[in-house]
Amino acid sequence: MAKKLFIKTYGCQMNVYDSARMADVLGPLGYAKTETPDDADMVIINTCHIREKAAEKVFSELGQWRLRKLEARQAGGDVTIAVAGCVAQAEGEEIINRAPFVDLVVGPQAYHRLPELLAKAERVRATKTGKGRGILDTEFPVESKFDHLPEQVATPPGPVGFLAIQEGCDKFCTFCVVPYTRGAEYSRPASAVLAEAERLIAAGAREIALLGQNVNAWHGEGLDGSTWSLGRLLRELNDRHPDLRWRYTTSHPREMDDDLIKAHGELSGLMPFLHLPVQSGSDAVLRAMNRGHKAEDYLRIVEKLRAARPDIALSSDFITGFPGETDRDFEATMALVREVGFASAYSFKYSARPGTPGSLMPNQVPDEVSSERLYALQALLMEQATAFNRGMVGRQLDVLLDRPGRHPGQLLGRSPYMQSVVINDSAAAIGDRVTVTITAASASSLSGEIAGQLEAA
Ligand code: SAH
Ligand code: SF4
Ligand code: F3S
Repeated sequence: MAKKLFIKTYGCQMNVYDSARMADVLGPLGYAKTETPDDADMVIINTCHIREKAAEKVFSELGQWRLRKLEARQAGGDVTIAVAGCVAQAEGEEIINRAPFVDLVVGPQAYHRLPELLAKAERVRATKTGKGRGILDTEFPVESKFDHLPEQVATPPGPVGFLAIQEGCDKFCTFCVVPYTRGAEYSRPASAVLAEAERLIAAGAREIALLGQNVNAWHGEGLDGSTWSLGRLLRELNDRHPDLRWRYTTSHPREMDDDLIKAHGELSGLMPFLHLPVQSGSDAVLRAMNRGHKAEDYLRIVEKLRAARPDIALSSDFITGFPGETDRDFEATMALVREVGFASAYSFKYSARPGTPGSLMPNQVPDEVSSERLYALQALLMEQATAFNRGMVGRQLDVLLDRPGRHPGQLLGRSPYMQSVVINDSAAAIGDRVTVTITAASASSLSGEIAGQLEAA
């Protein structure tokens, strides 16, 4: 009988991708995915360490799994508990010590070793006399996990496929844990990316999001042996599959080269949306964050992007209350937001992360001040998102239906500009690509009626 694998994923899209790949690795060992935690024989908690709140969730979630394990044991069975992701990488030892019932802790660069780690964990469990230790693998192996993960797509991707083309980060922004949890920048060769894209498309993907912590820093080996840029790679993918919808995330302003900007004006399948985190509009704060560019540089990039693709929708990430941020610095952020006009954005209160230079800076900003700035910023961003969305009412948009809505008969999809679009149409199905006439808009979504079918699922 197949064993049931339950995966709980926190954090970014890279974790969503990794969770699917872990399921692929464990498939041949007889594990089939389940969506119901209650019947799981194994659980993987794929964690995020980016902010304190995200990391805290792990230990409370583990508490619940400990109880499930005890229950299962009383009934003569067991539940294997594995912790993966960025908390595993950053706090692996602590997890093993604080939560001895955890069988396995595995960092993001070691997922291809899951079968042998699991076998080891099972041996330990068989010999455990009350107190044992879980297995820990948080090394950055010499071999790339991408070369050792199975090729088949065991978990159908659904209409939107994620494809990791780059991993890791060498930027070392002073607030961020990612360079420590994901390791150095690594770019997969174009041939591997193209082959994986073909597999996703064969398995039903109609949109593919290329992923990387610094996706536009991708500089992999090209098909001709030379080093390609992301612009060149997108050209290749779009030429092969012009009818697919292509996206890439997350980009860094420093890596936004002219070739990539040009691609936005030229590639029919490249969606007119870009998530380009700026974090702050103050040069002093950007310097303290080690972002490597000024506010002005960001504005120039936006200008060039809009020249290449006038309707491009922009999104960003912001941090309020970074150490040393003054009222004037914050005002500069508000000014940048007003100048750019964002279609959507994420904003966070600065969270001091252990081991990062930011956490040691002397001039930490009081929590109330960071919160106050966050509310003001969010109000402005919300206003802009609402205005952007309202501008769509009456227009017809190409929507890929990709998930069920909250109510029966309701389906959700994404516009080219990454807006959520709600439709009520019993004849439509997930995977359909349809033209939708937009009838209403809010800050977070659009709704409308199907005006025509572009492609059936
Ligand atoms: N690699 C991407 C995203 C990194 S994490 C990039 O370079 O932009 C996603 C977002 O989380 C960041 O853009 C940043 O806005 C936020 N973030 C990261 N570390 C944080 C911290 N210590 N406190 C608050 N927000 C943080
Ligand atoms: Fe973190 Fe900066 Fe790297 Fe993004 S570029 S992952 S924010 S260190
Ligand atoms: Fe979180 Fe790691 Fe992604 S810290 S945001 S899961 S890279």
